[in-house]
Amino acid sequence: MSPGTKVVLGIESSCDETAAALVTGGRCILAQAIASQAEAHAPYGGVVPEIAARAHAERLAPLIEQVLQEAQLDLADCDAVAATAGPGLIGGVMVGLVTAKALAMASDKPLIAVNHLEGHALSPRLADAALEFPYALLLVSGGHCQILRVEGVGRYRRLATTIDDALGEAFDKTAKILGLGYPGGPAVEALAASGDPARVTLPRPLLGSAEPHFSFAGLKSAVLRARETGRHADADIAASFQQAAIACLVDRLDHAFADMGQVTALVAAGGVAANHAIRAALEHFAGSRGLRFVAPPLALCTDNAAMIAWAGIERIKAGFAADPLDIPARPRWPLDPEAEPARGAGVKA
Ligand code: KG4
Ligand code: ZN
Repeated sequence: MSPGTKVVLGIESSCDETAAALVTGGRCILAQAIASQAEAHAPYGGVVPEIAARAHAERLAPLIEQVLQEAQLDLADCDAVAATAGPGLIGGVMVGLVTAKALAMASDKPLIAVNHLEGHALSPRLADAALEFPYALLLVSGGHCQILRVEGVGRYRRLATTIDDALGEAFDKTAKILGLGYPGGPAVEALAASGDPARVTLPRPLLGSAEPHFSFAGLKSAVLRARETGRHADADIAASFQQAAIACLVDRLDHAFADMGQVTALVAAGGVAANHAIRAALEHFAGSRGLRFVAPPLALCTDNAAMIAWAGIERIKAGFAADPLDIPARPRWPLDPEAEPARGAGVKA
């Protein structure tokens, strides 16, 4: 990175976590703070955009103050302000981006508009200095399920995406069906641990299909039907769901690797990559191909601001210019603009 750039303030507000962090070019997280809105959204079983935007507006400024105080820094000590500029719920993204613009303008620091997905994609390099490009990335979150070849900062080739639901969404809907509340991923994982994954027969959509993509909508509906029969224990349904999801992930990775080319590692990122059973399966898959498996620590998998600050640092290091103060917030922002829309949906960036 340029000699002057040492500390970046990162801001994240694209979904239901309000977060701020200060990260150095030397991979040190000086301070970070996250305010989860899970409780506010729980009664609705999912994120309500209006509630999310209002909560970001209330909580972001105090969180920024908190991390600056914790690191004993002033805004003047920061070298840039990085914020998620999309993709995400537009009201929340606007709160974070406008805050970053105001701070950048007031302190005369460069603004870095970060693609939230790039934040996830580069987060493993914050925790692991040895992780080199190019690497294979499974990006699995509440809004996305993609396989990418990460060739460098700002250079992504998408090999697969979902044609309907993201995997995190399927976890959340399964949790809702089983009455586990929101967010569902950790609750389904916990319940699955005591269930029998072979007990409930569930579909594995697109398994073995010649097209490269994922599909999880049918799996979710099958979970609903299995629950409605009243013949299965919830733990068995959760375990069988998780097992089916893992089978799909591994099968689709297998398919994608035919076109992946040489890579240094298989990397998992995004909230669903916090799932231990999924991590174990991916580790096994990577091992079978003689590849290292890398996943960031759990706290860097789910939405956070350290990954946004780090993406800002990576962009500065890679020589990208600062962004103009009139850069818009984007509800959709694909990492690979060349990628063909997946059949049917085209809805997931
Ligand atoms: O990356 P993230 O924090 O937010 C988005 O950008 O979407 O991912 C959130 C998603 C939610 O759907 C949540 O249920 C899921 O990640 N998740 C998990 C686990 N922890 C979070 N899914 C499965 N197992 C987990 N342990
Ligand atoms: Zn995310």
